[in-house]
Amino acid sequence: MSKRVFIKTFGCQMNERDSEIMEQLLASCGYVSVFDMEEADFVLLNTCSIRAKAEQKVFSLLGQLRKQKIRNPGLLVGVAGCVAQQEGRKIFKRMPHVDLVVGTQQFYQLPSMLMRLEKGESNREISCNLESSFTIPPFQKYYLGQEGQAPSPAPADRHGLVEFSKFVTIMQGCNNFCSYCVVPHTRGREVSRRISDIVEEVTLLVSRGAKEITLLGQNVNSYGSTNPVADTTTGFADLLRRVAEIPGIKRLRFTSSNPQDLSACLMQCFKDIDILCPHFHLPAQSGSNSVLKKMGRKYTRELYLEKVEELRSYCPEIALSTDIIVGFPGESDQDFEQTMGLLRTVRYHGSFSFKYSDRPGTRSADFDQKVDENIKGERLQCFQKEQDRISLERNQEMVDRTMEVMIEHNQDGTIKSRTSSNHIVHFTSPLPMVPGDLCQVRITHAGMHSLNGEYCSM
Ligand code: SAH
Ligand code: SF4
Ligand code: F3S
Repeated sequence: MSKRVFIKTFGCQMNERDSEIMEQLLASCGYVSVFDMEEADFVLLNTCSIRAKAEQKVFSLLGQLRKQKIRNPGLLVGVAGCVAQQEGRKIFKRMPHVDLVVGTQQFYQLPSMLMRLEKGESNREISCNLESSFTIPPFQKYYLGQEGQAPSPAPADRHGLVEFSKFVTIMQGCNNFCSYCVVPHTRGREVSRRISDIVEEVTLLVSRGAKEITLLGQNVNSYGSTNPVADTTTGFADLLRRVAEIPGIKRLRFTSSNPQDLSACLMQCFKDIDILCPHFHLPAQSGSNSVLKKMGRKYTRELYLEKVEELRSYCPEIALSTDIIVGFPGESDQDFEQTMGLLRTVRYHGSFSFKYSDRPGTRSADFDQKVDENIKGERLQCFQKEQDRISLERNQEMVDRTMEVMIEHNQDGTIKSRTSSNHIVHFTSPLPMVPGDLCQVRITHAGMHSLNGEYCSM
C-alpha cells in the first residue's frame, strides 16, 4: 500500500509553489496526498515566520500532532519552510516528536532525507546542514536533478490536476534586508532562475491546462541582476515579454515589486502585452519618510507617489494594491497620519495591512520606542476601515461596466470569477463553464470585497 502524505502550507504563494514541488518529489518516492491529516503517515508543515502569529500557528499545530502521534506511533512529522530555516534543530528540543526539519533550500533532498530516516539515521544528523544549504544556489540543484540525473523541470500536478491558475517562482531569496523582515534570513540571498527553465516550466504548465500564470519573486524588478545561475542578463521586463509569447496563456500576472526598482521598461509592458493583467501590487509599508528610513526601504513617499503617477500614465485603468505595516518602532501619530494620507491619495483598490511584529534576527527587533499593542490595534482598525470605504467606492465605479472575467469556481451555475484587475465577481451562468474559461459580465452591484454581475457573452 502506498504511503500517505498530508502537506499543510502556511504563508506566501512562494511556499505554496514549494509545497507543490515537495508533493511531486514525494510522489516520486511512493507517497500519495490525502486531504485529512488524521489519515496521513507523514504530515509535513511548510511554515511561515513573517510575523510572530504565523509562527505561533505552526507550533500550535505541532502540539496537536503530538497527540496524533501518540494515537499513531508510526506517524512521521516534518517541518519545512521559513520556521524550519529560522529555528533549525532547536525545533527538535521544543517539539521532540518532530522527525525532520527541512530548510527552505533543502527540500529538493526530501526523498533522500526520508530514505536516511527509514534506515535509522538520527533526525538531527539528517537535518544538520540547514545553514550550509544556503551555499547551494536554489533551483540549480533541482534542475540538475538528483545524483546527476537529467534536468527535471516537471511542475507538480497537485492531486493529479493542473489548476487553471499556476504560480511559477522566478527567483528565490531577497537582498533588501528591510529592517523588520525575516525573508533574507530564511530564504537567503537573491538568486534568479534561468530564463530557459522558466519558459520550459510555463510551457509545460500551459500544455497541461493552466490558463493563468503568476510569476513570483520577493522583488521581481531585480530579476536577473544578482544572478549566479541565470543564462542571461535579461531583466524582468524582457522575461515578461518572453513568457507572454508562450501560446495558450490567457492571463499573466506577477508579484511582488519594490517601488525603487520599478522601471519605465516594466511600465511599458502594460501597454504592449495584451495578456498582462492591469493590476499592480506595490507594497508601500508606510507613508512616512522617517518610518520608511528606519524600515530600510529604499524610497521616499514622494518617489513612491511619482511611480504611481507614472504607472497610471502608462495604464490608466491599473488597479493598485499594497502592503502596510502599522506600529513600526517609533511610529508617531503624525507618521501614521502620513500613511492614512497615502491611502487617501493613491486610493488603493485593496491592501494587506499588518501590525508590526518583532522577528528574531532582524534589526528592528532591537529598536527602541516600541509601539503599544493597543495603539497598533487601533491604527490597524482605522486603516482597514478607511481602506474598506475606499474599496467600496472603487468597486462602485465599476457598476454597469461590462468586463471580462475568468471563471474560478462553478457550483451548479453559481460562479466565482475574477476580472483582470483582480476583482472578484459573482454571477450565475446559463451555460456550462469550467475554471479558466473567460466570459463577459455586466457588473450590477458593488460590495466592499466583491462585485455581482450578470452574464453577457462568452
Ligand atoms: N517582498 C515583499 C514583501 C514580502 S513579506 C516586499 O518587499 O514588499 C509580505 C508582507 O509582510 C510585507 O510586505 C510586510 O508588509 C509584511 N511584513 C514583513 N515583515 C513584517 C513584520 N516583522 N511585522 C509585520 N509585518 C511584516
Ligand atoms: Fe522582506 Fe524587504 Fe525583501 Fe520584501 S524586500 S522580502 S520586505 S527584506
Ligand atoms: Fe512567510 Fe517565508 Fe513567505 S516567512 S511570507 S513563507 S518567504
